[in-house]
Formats: sequence, C-alpha cells, structure tokens
Amino acid sequence: MKINENFLKIEASYLFSTVAKKQREYQAAHPEADVIRLSIGDVTKPLVPVVIDAMHKAVDEMASEDTFRGYPPEYGYDFILDAIQKHDYADRGIDIAKDEIFLSDGAKSDCGNIGDIFSVDNKVAICDPVYPVYVDTNIMAGRSGEKNEDGLWSNIIYMPCTAENNFTPDIPQEIPDVIYLCFPNNPTGMVATKEQLKKWVDFANEHNSLILFDSAYEAFVVDEDIPKSIYEIEGAKTCAIELRSFSKTAGFTGMRCGYTVVPKDLKFNGTSLNPMWARRQATKFNGVSYITQRAAEAIYTEEGQKQIKETLAYYQKNARVIYDGLCDAGFECYGGVNSPYVWLRVPEGYTSWDFFDELLDKCQVVGTPGSGFGPAGEGYFRLTSFGNAEKTVEAIERIKAVYKK
Ligand code: MLT
Repeated sequence: MKINENFLKIEASYLFSTVAKKQREYQAAHPEADVIRLSIGDVTKPLVPVVIDAMHKAVDEMASEDTFRGYPPEYGYDFILDAIQKHDYADRGIDIAKDEIFLSDGAKSDCGNIGDIFSVDNKVAICDPVYPVYVDTNIMAGRSGEKNEDGLWSNIIYMPCTAENNFTPDIPQEIPDVIYLCFPNNPTGMVATKEQLKKWVDFANEHNSLILFDSAYEAFVVDEDIPKSIYEIEGAKTCAIELRSFSKTAGFTGMRCGYTVVPKDLKFNGTSLNPMWARRQATKFNGVSYITQRAAEAIYTEEGQKQIKETLAYYQKNARVIYDGLCDAGFECYGGVNSPYVWLRVPEGYTSWDFFDELLDKCQVVGTPGSGFGPAGEGYFRLTSFGNAEKTVEAIERIKAVYKK
C-alpha cells in the first residue's frame, strides 16, 4: 500500500488547531488567566428558540414508528430545499432550481470535497491571505506543486490581497482553471461590489474557468448594493458554484449544515457539473440528519428570520466595538462592516506570530495571526466578533491599555 504523499507536503497541523493548542498551553501554564478567545470564527450565542422548538418536534417524530425517518434524501428534503430556493434565491430575484441545491454538512466539507469532480491537472487561483482550507485541500489532492522558499506553492496562482489593492484580488496574468473567491472575505473582512464580481464572471466565462464562490458570511452584509450571492451577477450560472453555510448565519457551527449550488448550465467540455456533483454526493455522503434539516428550515420562518437577525446584530455590534476600539488604539484596521472579521496591521517590527504571542501574554487575548492565512497575511492579524459581548469589550480595553499611543 502506498500513502497519498501529498499529505507529507502539508503543515502537520491545521491553522486553527495550532492556535487552539497555543491557547491551551498558555492556560495550563497560567491557570489563573482569564483568556478571551477571538480567534476561530466560532459562534457563542445559543441556537434561537424557533430552531430549538423545531428540533424538539423532530426528535419526537423520530420517537414514533409512524413518523420516524431513516436515511434522508442525499441532497436534502424538499421542505428545506424549497425554503432555501424561495428565501435565498427566488425572493432576491435569482432563478435557481431546487435540483441545483445540494444540502450538506457544511461549506468546509463541500469546499474540500468539490475537488473530486475536477481534474488534478487543473490550475487553481487562490487569494493570499485566504481561508486555509482552499490551499490545504488542493495540496492533498496533488494540485499544489512544491512549496517555494517564499512559502508559495509552485503550481498555485496566487492573487495577493493587500492594503495596496484594498484587499480585493486583481485578475491574474495567467489564466486559471478554477478561481476561489470568498466575499465577504475571510480573513480580511472586505467585500466585493457587483462591478468587481462582474469582472470575475466575465473573465471566467471568457476563459472557460470555474469560480468557486464561498458565500459563508453573506448574512453579515448590510449594504444593499453588496451582493450576497454570485448569482446576482449576470452570467454567473455558466461559470460559478456557490458554497453557503448555516454556521455563521444561524449559529450552526456545532450542528453542521450548509449547501452548495451547482447550476445545470455550468458545463465544461460539454459536461454539466450538476449531475457529477449529484453522483459524488450520492456515493460519498448520506445526507444531513432529519433533525438538523428541520432546524435549518425553522430559520426561514418569519419568526426565525427575526430571531437570527437579533443574534447577527449582537455579533455586528461586537465587530463595531473591535473595529472602533482598535482604530482608537492607533491600529490600522479593515473589515468589521458587512463582516464578522476585523483585520488589523500588527505594530511595526512584529511578525503576526510575535503579535499573537505578545497579545496572549500581555492581554490574555487570542486572535489569529495573518501569516497563517498565507504569506501576504504576514504583518496582519484577525479578530472575530463571534465572542461574548462583555468579553469582547473587555478584550479591547485590555488591548488599548497596552497599545494605545
Ligand atoms: C474561521 O475562523 O476562519 C472559520 O471559523 C473557519 C471555518 O469556518 O471553518
């Protein structure tokens, strides 16, 4: 038996596992420290009442022979697909058919698994900095080439996102087969306008490239003219797959539910990707639990929408507290509006990991070092708004006490 040697190329530990390990070690060495975690984008507010009620009801159904359900349909029950189609697409004037939506256990899995239907010879274009899953899953699949001395992979087309281009990637010189885009962006918290996305859609259609659009943070968009879906852009159905998540929208990080849209018009070499993804999912995935699907359905009710918006407002307020507080302390900050993430420049002379260590040591605050998201993230740092509100205020006060000029 031969192992997949691509795994030997990759960092031994996933970014957020490394950050969590460092936090655990610090806490073990300083048991008295009240460490505040603003690192991984994991929610802290409980599930909203409509979701809990829907789950209780679904549990009762599972307890009785007449209403018990076994394997769910591989792509989702009609009730949830209908709710997604109506609320996330039709009501926003977007024509997506129910059989173009595939319910799953989350956007992270889908974004890793989608590569199953692409050739290993494809060249992928990835923003730098970026959600590490895009790079890591392409390394595992054998699409990355070798790591250069500058930390970049030889076969990946990098699209640097820095303060100079306002953290929005420029169209690369070399034509990629697959382009990963994420807006609102993780980690920078920046958004793309319709005009900016239109350029990508036109480019992809012209060059026969596929866009993988990660829209996991769309629920944070408050500006009317910022698109929540790539399909708001004309021409996107012939070049883009969209990944969506209930994790940040409705606090489902522990529930596991998301979905992927693969339009039937999306064809390469005359082959539609939709039946390929359907085949992949039917073979390797057995669907989302009935209880979770009922929970997801509940957020689309009028009451559900009201309740999740209250939770989102809570996190949006945290984002404001972080952004304003850090600006006041003299940091150069980005994001924080239309996004749960604040991206800041670390003080002169520090690396991202130096700042991580100092922040943990002096403020007992944990964030995520920008360099963990890619070489162009060096010199930056990410804080999330998903923490408890009082703790977030406290974290910013501590940071100000140490760094305010
Ligand atoms: C993050 O912190 O970047 C996200 O929580 C990771 C994820 O969604 O998997």
